Amino acid sequence: MNIRQLLTDKFQAAMLAAGIPEDCGPVVAPAKKAGFGDYQANGAMAAAKRMGTNPRELAAGILEQLDRGDMIEKVEIAGPGFMNIHLSNAWLAAQLAAAQRDERLNIAPAAQPQTVVIDYSHPNLAKEMHVGHLRSTIIGDALARLLEFQGHKVIRQNHMGDWGTQFGMLLAHLSDKLESNDAGAGSDQKAKVALADLEVFYREAKVRFDEEEGFDDRAREYVVKLQGGDPACLKLWQQFIDISISHSEEIYDKLNVTLKRSDVYGESRYNDDLPVLVQELLDRGIAVEDQGAIVVFLEEMADKEGNPSPMIIRKKGGGYLYSTTDLAAIRYRANQLHADRILYVVDARQSLHLQQAFTASRKAGFLPESVSLEHCAFGTMMGDDGKPFKTRTGGTVKLSALLDEAIERAQKLVADKNPDLSPDECAQIGRTVGIGAVKYADLSKTRTNDYAFNWNAMLSFEGNTAPYLQYAYTRVRSIFRRAGIDPGELSGDIQLGTAEERALAIKLCQFGEVLDQVAKDTFPHVLCGYLYDLASGYMAFYEACPVLREGVEADVRNSRLQLCDLVARTIAAGLDLLGIEVLEKM
Ligand code: ARG
Repeated sequence: MNIRQLLTDKFQAAMLAAGIPEDCGPVVAPAKKAGFGDYQANGAMAAAKRMGTNPRELAAGILEQLDRGDMIEKVEIAGPGFMNIHLSNAWLAAQLAAAQRDERLNIAPAAQPQTVVIDYSHPNLAKEMHVGHLRSTIIGDALARLLEFQGHKVIRQNHMGDWGTQFGMLLAHLSDKLESNDAGAGSDQKAKVALADLEVFYREAKVRFDEEEGFDDRAREYVVKLQGGDPACLKLWQQFIDISISHSEEIYDKLNVTLKRSDVYGESRYNDDLPVLVQELLDRGIAVEDQGAIVVFLEEMADKEGNPSPMIIRKKGGGYLYSTTDLAAIRYRANQLHADRILYVVDARQSLHLQQAFTASRKAGFLPESVSLEHCAFGTMMGDDGKPFKTRTGGTVKLSALLDEAIERAQKLVADKNPDLSPDECAQIGRTVGIGAVKYADLSKTRTNDYAFNWNAMLSFEGNTAPYLQYAYTRVRSIFRRAGIDPGELSGDIQLGTAEERALAIKLCQFGEVLDQVAKDTFPHVLCGYLYDLASGYMAFYEACPVLREGVEADVRNSRLQLCDLVARTIAAGLDLLGIEVLEKM
């Protein structure tokens, strides 16, 4: 249920009936301040300006046509023509009762489900997975979960960097390692040993490439063999890729991310299409030869002087590029996967590249007009020093080590807070809280901004953090434990007698519209902000409205218990969509 949408529809119909042009929208939003109703419709002002009439009179005309149904209690005209909407208590209570009975909390699946391709995580297998991939993985997975919950068909695409000249050096090094390792073990087993620590392996290969005589030539030979489809070389490459993917999977597991091996559709998958695609663009005159390279000149993205933006799709020597692969990927996703929407959860620093790929593929007619291409850009993760996040010695931070540290810190925190926990409980809680904290810290910031990675802030039990929400959840749940009540058995009317109960009810009813908004704009921090407000609203309610205390009438207590249960379930559902777990005890 989406209150904002329901009100928009009602006001839109009333405006039409009042003779206002169709393209004047009612502009409905939750009221920003107390005393201005629950929602506001502000469209009368703009419409009056357009029509050259008095906005207050126009608003009165709209209200005459408005079908209030059982949803709207009253509407007041305020100031120059604001319409302040008060929702009816009976209607709010009925919505909550429906949510209480419904596993999906009264959130209906999308009326028009779409096929949404989400390109996320996508590490480069020839390099270490770094914090940039952490952001993409966390944000992309939240969007995937949320859109799936809404009933869309989500196709995850892990566009791993599994091809390119960097593999020459790695394969040459791997080949040497396999030869020098003891005989006996099978080749796959040997490869596993050689690649047990990828960071070490990359470093060794790089040192050899830079320092060892003749190694660079061998590396280049491997590139040629790989591109030429040499079977032994391909086998080596496959071993390398398989083991690298397993390393990524360990991170996904630890992070509670839904990506599976079957979601990996790496750059190499497009190899066969690259010459075809380039030839086609040449034949159609969309790409041209320029100083030996093949280039698409994009007038659509010309600079101030009018020079078109050049996108190279084949290098002088004949090699293909990251951009060529992305054009092939767009074509595949639109035509083979039948995407209605393609989301790229990619670092903001790649926005020129993606803009070029989007523009060129439109120009080439690679996809139907209706398919939406969206760059869900994110900023850089910064360290406390305000510089991009690095280890103390300036190296790349190893992701698995970072996650282990999160878990350790959280374990220590919960053990200090609650010394009675068993070591097992501590470990389990530490995992859930630590990983939740890392993910939530990322998701709760406006993704397009850079954000500062800070252990103390993300692990705090106060403020807009995962531990705060997880703790709020356990507190609500403990009410039921204390009272020995199964929330599934609650019934009776929901009563909204106090201001706090009413405010909480409205918050609870807004879950659906928040999900719709995040699905549309792909900004998960909006959901985080909502959950934080909900938990704060619950705290205010709990202070003001006793639940189990003696003297509380049975029907009031029953109603309040239902509100408590809805709060717990909404927090859990919201966190689940963000890929964060809750605990019964912490
Ligand atoms: N592998 C790339 C990197 O690590 C990101 C890939 C993003 N997706 C895409 N279709 N270009 O930077």
